[in-house]
Amino acid sequence: MAGTFITFEGPDGAGKTSVLKALIPKLQAHLSRPVRLTREPGGAKISEAIRELILDPANTEMDARTEALLYAASRRQHLREVIRPALAAGEIVICDRFVDSSVAYQGAGRQIGEAAVLEMNQFATEGLAPVRTLYLDVPSSTGLARIEAHRGDRQYDRLDRESIAFHERVRGAYLRLAAQEPGRIVTIDATKPLAQVVEDCLNTLHSVLAASWLA
Ligand code: TMP
Repeated sequence: MAGTFITFEGPDGAGKTSVLKALIPKLQAHLSRPVRLTREPGGAKISEAIRELILDPANTEMDARTEALLYAASRRQHLREVIRPALAAGEIVICDRFVDSSVAYQGAGRQIGEAAVLEMNQFATEGLAPVRTLYLDVPSSTGLARIEAHRGDRQYDRLDRESIAFHERVRGAYLRLAAQEPGRIVTIDATKPLAQVVEDCLNTLHSVLAASWLA
């Protein structure tokens, strides 16, 4: 495969969206290959329709396994329509959330089992995994306080409404994943000011993308 697949992960309120918005133009300016930013759940028409269904605060009756299957279905379509073709064309694909989100949120947050969720996602992705994952870490209380403070800018969805215990399980799972896969997952301290977090991400990506980095 010619391209490079990189993902960003983090609990709610880690600031991924703001970091990526500032990071992508800077990154592109350093690189000789095109950078494609995409996100999950979503990134393709069918996947965005599934996103609406999953995150709609009105869908209170949604079963946890149904939710996990929908995330995996959304991911499958996104992978077929966007990620694989972009990688085949030699692009640097940066995806805002991927399988680790399902392991953390559905596996640990919803308590349906991290191993089961991972296995189901392997069916959906046929084993495609990012070469590097930047995990933006914040304590759950900080993340939730940020969401409250920016409620106007962001849709307050079904997952944001979960208890602090849910968000702590999610963060715990991310920290375990990072400890299990230190070669893939790089933890970034996202409690720092935005400009510093962006700088830390750029420095991390520099080593992964060295071959395409402009002097
Ligand atoms: P976002 O805030 O990064 O757009 O993500 C939307 C929500 O979807 C967020 O609360 C995390 C959740 N999510 C999962 O629960 N499982 C998944 O597999 C993905 C991709 C997202």
